[in-house]
Amino acid sequence: MRRFHLLHMAVYGALLFLGLGAKCARAETGADAWLRYLPLEKNAARKYARLPASVVALGDSPVLGSAKSELIRGIRGMLARPLREENSLPHESAIILGTVSALQTAAPTFLEHVDFHGDGFLLATVQLHGVAYFVVTSTSERGVLYGVFALLSRIARGESVSALRETQQPEAPIRWVDQWDNLDGRIERGYAGASIFFENGNVRADLTRAADYARLLASVGINGCAINNVNANPHVLEDSFLPQLARVADVFRPWGVQLSISVDLSSPKVIGGLDTFDPADPNVAEWWKKKVNDIYRLIPDFAGVVVKADSEGRLGPATYARTPADAAKVIARALAPHGGIVFYRAFVYNHHLDWRDPTNDRAKAAYDIFNPLDGKFDDNVIIQIKHGPIDFQVREPVSPLFSGLEKTNEAIELQVTQEYTGQQRHLCFLPPMWKEVLDFDMHAGERRTPVKDIVAGKTFHRPFGGFVAVVNVGMDANWLGHPLAMANLYGYGRLAWNPDLDSTAIAEEWARLSFGNDPAVVQTIAAMLLASWPIYESYTGPLGAGTLTDILGSHFGPGVESSERNGWGQWHRADHHGIGMDRTAATGSGYVDQYRAPVAKMYESLDSTPDELLLFFHHVPYTHVLHSGKTVIQQIYDSHYAGAEAAARLVQQWESLKGQVDEERYQAVLRRLEYQAGHAIVWRDAVCNWFFQISGIVDQHRRVGHYSGRIEAEAMYLEDYLPFEVVPRETASGGKAVECAPPAEKCSAAFRFDGAAGRYEMDVEYFDQSNGKSKFRVLVSDQVVDEWIADDRLPATKPGGDSSTRRRIFGLVLRPGDHIRIEGVPDGEEHAALDYVEIHALPEGSTRP
Ligand code: GCU
Repeated sequence: MRRFHLLHMAVYGALLFLGLGAKCARAETGADAWLRYLPLEKNAARKYARLPASVVALGDSPVLGSAKSELIRGIRGMLARPLREENSLPHESAIILGTVSALQTAAPTFLEHVDFHGDGFLLATVQLHGVAYFVVTSTSERGVLYGVFALLSRIARGESVSALRETQQPEAPIRWVDQWDNLDGRIERGYAGASIFFENGNVRADLTRAADYARLLASVGINGCAINNVNANPHVLEDSFLPQLARVADVFRPWGVQLSISVDLSSPKVIGGLDTFDPADPNVAEWWKKKVNDIYRLIPDFAGVVVKADSEGRLGPATYARTPADAAKVIARALAPHGGIVFYRAFVYNHHLDWRDPTNDRAKAAYDIFNPLDGKFDDNVIIQIKHGPIDFQVREPVSPLFSGLEKTNEAIELQVTQEYTGQQRHLCFLPPMWKEVLDFDMHAGERRTPVKDIVAGKTFHRPFGGFVAVVNVGMDANWLGHPLAMANLYGYGRLAWNPDLDSTAIAEEWARLSFGNDPAVVQTIAAMLLASWPIYESYTGPLGAGTLTDILGSHFGPGVESSERNGWGQWHRADHHGIGMDRTAATGSGYVDQYRAPVAKMYESLDSTPDELLLFFHHVPYTHVLHSGKTVIQQIYDSHYAGAEAAARLVQQWESLKGQVDEERYQAVLRRLEYQAGHAIVWRDAVCNWFFQISGIVDQHRRVGHYSGRIEAEAMYLEDYLPFEVVPRETASGGKAVECAPPAEKCSAAFRFDGAAGRYEMDVEYFDQSNGKSKFRVLVSDQVVDEWIADDRLPATKPGGDSSTRRRIFGLVLRPGDHIRIEGVPDGEEHAALDYVEIHALPEGSTRP
């Protein structure tokens, strides 16, 4: 057996070597993301036969060094050709990498005219003294690196590079990412393992992943990264910590990524030994100046700092009755001599609002606080504005603050980490959502003033501005947990570079780079990505009510009421009669008036508010008829059922790619999609039942509350399992489940199958918490048909919507009278809890195993 195996491997290896292996032979972890550089098929590779055989970099900086080594690596990988390195301009065709000034020094006639600047670049075939050179140039070295990545991307996607002349110019100078990493190595709202930067209170000894991350960021044009949580630990500014930060800057530098950190405004007091952190105090100003100077001594290309203050318990200028402008100024003045920037976050709000007062509205906070300060911020301050007025919900209108600052720099803050959009366990491709935001016309001038133009500084002629995204990659090999979630990081980078790109183009580009150029693969993956945000929205947050998740905890599973009757202000105000926040000027909180008149007018009226944002702006009865012709309540029911069905179809779409993509990623994606399809049903049932209970209005299609083939665990014959009430009740079927609590060591729940003989699939809905690894076995007439361990890392320590998980058993042959038993063995705090079983006949001709 072993010999056969070795022989098999040898043959397989030889096939691979000869390039004859199956296209999906190589197992992949996802660590290479969209920079795989796999060998192109022969025909595709032929297209690049005339690409020069040597490369010369005009200069020896670390960034140019990366550009050159990346090019060599990519060409070797994709075209199996070694690029010869030259030290000076050769007299034969070569790829030339260099800045415009270096090119002009080498040969003054090289470029006739230059129509790019900053990080913009040119890829062109240029004739000089009868020799055709392939030139990658920019006014910055970073731009040269970006040009190399663009060239390699073209090759990977099979696009021609002959007789090429392509100029690319990024829309805005600021294209950043934030990481919310804590110094102890955990990541706030991170869903893919531990921090790549920190561990146990220090910067990691091994920063290989941080360097790899910088390379990935550079490949999509990202030029800055703030590495620690916006809820910043003041310790990051201690003298002893600064050299550790310098080590991160060192691994970023070759990729043109500038280091930034989040700082806590109380640092002068907490770690500086002052008795105040009042921004108007001269000693405080002196402290920041000295601290910033110390940083620049160690990190000369330090980018600046991010500030979260007076928000969610963070201290800030309000302590001394000062404004955000006062606070920003004291740090900005310290940074200005070095060219550093302050990103002051507009995410400032009171989370102790009185929910009884209908005029209170968290959505108004950012505009109320920052609009009166317009013009009071220094030129090296950027106000970092979340795209919506609440907090990265599955659907929100655009923040009115974008048109509320004409004399202040702005950046838009997006979220790649899917905090409210499925936490990388659900597929949710976000560029279509971001595009809606970026293209939204704020009506802030005579001509169109889309958000993308405002943040790029074009509309109000600001010197700085751009894009920031919270990413939160982690130590998981595939960076974000879900292999397909990397499309969001890629898409963010592409849009920050060029917000005019369309989502379909981005999805296809990413699919090609990440899974190869097979048209069926590209089309299927792109279609899945493009459908995924509407699908997620339809079963989690209908009609602009916000993500109906547990806002007081994980922000993951359903928790419809968690937003109500507390000070956090994410209210949807559902009661027995209706739902929605009245934000109109006429009868509500007056939020709509923060928009420019044409936008305010649209949202003020029920008639012109689009259905998908209805409940964000208006409180309506459940019987209100939408533009679609449906009532609000029926739309809630229908969208949740349609969404869960569409989530199930994603599984089938992916299954059509079996054998077309490498098995490792195929299986990893399949597991997540199967999970999502199960969890979408948890969402569907929780939300529909909650609204059915509160409205008392039945589903026209009689689905809500009726589940064919479902057998509640509490209705089974129980041995040692005990029923209990799940809180909140809508997160378990019938509000109840059964648990195997100590002293029981093993419990069972059994029932008799009373359907017709045939092949079935059986779903076991159980609760997988993070505080134990229970074991489950399913037996049919005493034969074990499945067993598993509940060891997922879900964000839950009790049974409920976060932990509810489906186990699907396929191809079960059942006969009437079969005795079906589920055994649970608890572990730690996890009591092998069970919710229900559902049995469905497999359709005729089903190919499932
Ligand atoms: C959200 C998130 C917090 C985060 C905050 C912020 O509220 O849940 O974890 O700190 O946003 O953006 O500052």
